[in-house]
Amino acid sequence: MNDIFSLSGRHALVTGASGGLGRQFARTLAAAGALVTVAARRADRCAETVTLIAAAGGRAQAVNLDVTDAAGVAAAFDAATEMAGAPVDVVVNNAGVAVTKPALKVTEDDWDWVMDTNLKGVWLVAQEAARRMAAPGPDGAPRGGNIVNIASIIAFRQGSRIASYAISKAGVVQLTKILALELADKGIRVNALAPGYVITDMNRDILEGPAGQVIVQRIPQGRFGRPEDLDGPLLLLASDASSFMTGSVIAADGGQLVNSL
Ligand SMILES: NC(=O)c1ccc[n+]([C@@H]2O[C@H](COP(=O)([O-])OP(=O)(O)OC[C@H]3O[C@@H](n4cnc5c(N)ncnc54)[C@H](OP(=O)(O)O)[C@@H]3O)[C@@H](O)[C@H]2O)c1
Repeated sequence: MNDIFSLSGRHALVTGASGGLGRQFARTLAAAGALVTVAARRADRCAETVTLIAAAGGRAQAVNLDVTDAAGVAAAFDAATEMAGAPVDVVVNNAGVAVTKPALKVTEDDWDWVMDTNLKGVWLVAQEAARRMAAPGPDGAPRGGNIVNIASIIAFRQGSRIASYAISKAGVVQLTKILALELADKGIRVNALAPGYVITDMNRDILEGPAGQVIVQRIPQGRFGRPEDLDGPLLLLASDASSFMTGSVIAADGGQLVNSL
C-alpha cells in the first residue's frame, strides 16, 4: 500500500515553529519526508528546530517571519522558495498568542495584538500561500496545495478571561471554511486542527498551577495533551490522506468538547 501520509517531495512551511506546538509540527512533517521551512521571529529558536530536524535525519531551513507584516510574509515565502528551489506545497498556520485577562481589563493594544497575530496573521499567510498555489504549474493547471490552520477548541465553547483569543480562533474556523469554499477549484485544500489544552510556553503558568488541576478534571481522558498527541491529526490534514477533506475542523482534545454539562 502507498504511504498516504508520506510528504516526500513536498515543501512545508510552519509558522511559529520556533517552539511549542509549531516545533513539534515541523518535526512531524520532516519525519514524514517533507522539506520544512521553519518560520518565526526568533532566529536562534528557529535554528534549534532546524538542528533537531537535521539530527533526526530530516531536511529543514529557517526563514524570518512576523505574520502580522504583509510585506514580510511575502518576503518569507520568496526566501523559502529560493532556498528550497521549490515553492511551498503545505502551510501550517500555527503562530499564535494569547492574552488571559478579564474582559473589562483587556486593553485595545491587547486586543489588536491577539487579533493581528491569530486572525490577520493566519489570513495574510493563507492568502499569500494560496496566491502562489493557485499559479499555473508546468501543465498550465493551478499548482495546488494544502493549508492547515491551527484553531482551538475555545472557538466552539466559552471561557472566562480569554475573550480576544477565543474570538480570534472562532474567526480562524470561519476563515478556514470560507477559504476552503473559494479555493477548492484551484486544487487548494484548507482545513483546521483544533487542539485542546497542551502544556506549552503559552499556558504553562496556568496549567501547571492550581487552575490546571481544576481544568484537567473537565477533560474526559483525564490529562492534558502532549505535543505528540497532535502528530496524527496534523499528518492527516497535511498529507494526501485527507485528499477529499476541505473546510473540515478536527478537534484533538481528550474529549473536552463532549464533556458533560
Ligand atoms: N498549547 C495549547 O494548549 C493550544 C491549544 C489550542 C491551540 N493552540 C494554538 O497552537 C498554536 C501554537 O501555540 P503554542 O501553544 O505552541 O504556543 P507557544 O509555545 O507560545 O508558541 C507560539 C509560537 O508562535 C510564534 N509567534 C507568535 N507571534 C508571532 C508572529 N507575530 N509572527 C510569527 N510567529 C509568531 C512564536 O514564535 P516567535 O516568538 O519566535 O515569533 C512561537 O513559536 C497557537 O496558534 C495556539 O493558539 C495551542
